[in-house]
Amino acid sequence: MSIRTATLNGVATIEIARPEKKNALTQAMYTAMADALTAATADAVVRAVLITGQPGMFTSGNDLEDFMQRPPQGENSPVFNFMRALLDCDKPVVAAVTGAAVGIGTTMLLHCDLVYVSDEARLAMPFVSLGLVPEYASSLLVPRLMGHVKAAEKLMLGEPFTGSDAVDCGIANAVLPAGEVMNHARRMAERFNALPPGAVRDTKRLMRAAQKDQLLSVMASEGEIFKSRLRSPEAMEAFQAFFQKRKPDFSKF
Ligand code: COA
Repeated sequence: MSIRTATLNGVATIEIARPEKKNALTQAMYTAMADALTAATADAVVRAVLITGQPGMFTSGNDLEDFMQRPPQGENSPVFNFMRALLDCDKPVVAAVTGAAVGIGTTMLLHCDLVYVSDEARLAMPFVSLGLVPEYASSLLVPRLMGHVKAAEKLMLGEPFTGSDAVDCGIANAVLPAGEVMNHARRMAERFNALPPGAVRDTKRLMRAAQKDQLLSVMASEGEIFKSRLRSPEAMEAFQAFFQKRKPDFSKF
């Protein structure tokens, strides 16, 4: 299984564990993560959720072979179920990020509550380079966080950025040495054990409520375009180039 879950001391940990494919997320992994989030939301013992990857690799994003062979079909697809489960989780969600966080690896951080990144972390949203468009309401949230021109670097050019850039623009709370990220994130998650859980949940709901409908509507619009772009010749060229380990050639489009 490429998603490991464990609950310890009030913290439900969801660990992405597919190192041989740089933690690329398959449909089965999205389903396992959605199930884990739903179970954590319902379990009174759980006071916080911790999402993490492997040392030096958060996730390389959606599995590109899945994108080619089994593109998400709509709002009931595993990736959408995962996105909604994270949006619906009313308990604090903490992320511990080391190494690369690509695509949804970065956009899922926009929906976590506390985010800790390593000093060697590399975040990137290279949707355009893949012939795709932003997802998970990142087309709304990223410009809102950092302004249009900086968002254009990240979303239109697909420029990667560092952990400290992520802190500067409000995506992450703090940068730590790679070996300390997980322990720090766990300590922060465990702090919720000493707080009244109802007040924490109500506060999270209030903080998120005003924009939830807007996020769902943007995700639906992005999803429609994303689905059709997945079948586009531009995306096919990008995916094939990745697996053939060559540079894509977009000159013919
Ligand atoms: N989907 C499917 N397979 C992936 C993958 C992905 N998103 N990311 C990595 N892999 C696979 C590679 O195909 C390779 O498999 P192989 O050993 O069978 O050839 C293996 O994982 C190792 O990847 P590699 O690219 O050699 O590792 P790297 O350390 O040089 O680079 C990344 C790591 C994350 C920078 C690079 O793999 C990458 O850019 N991945 C794609 C990211 C992406 O575009 N994600 C989608 C965003 S929407």
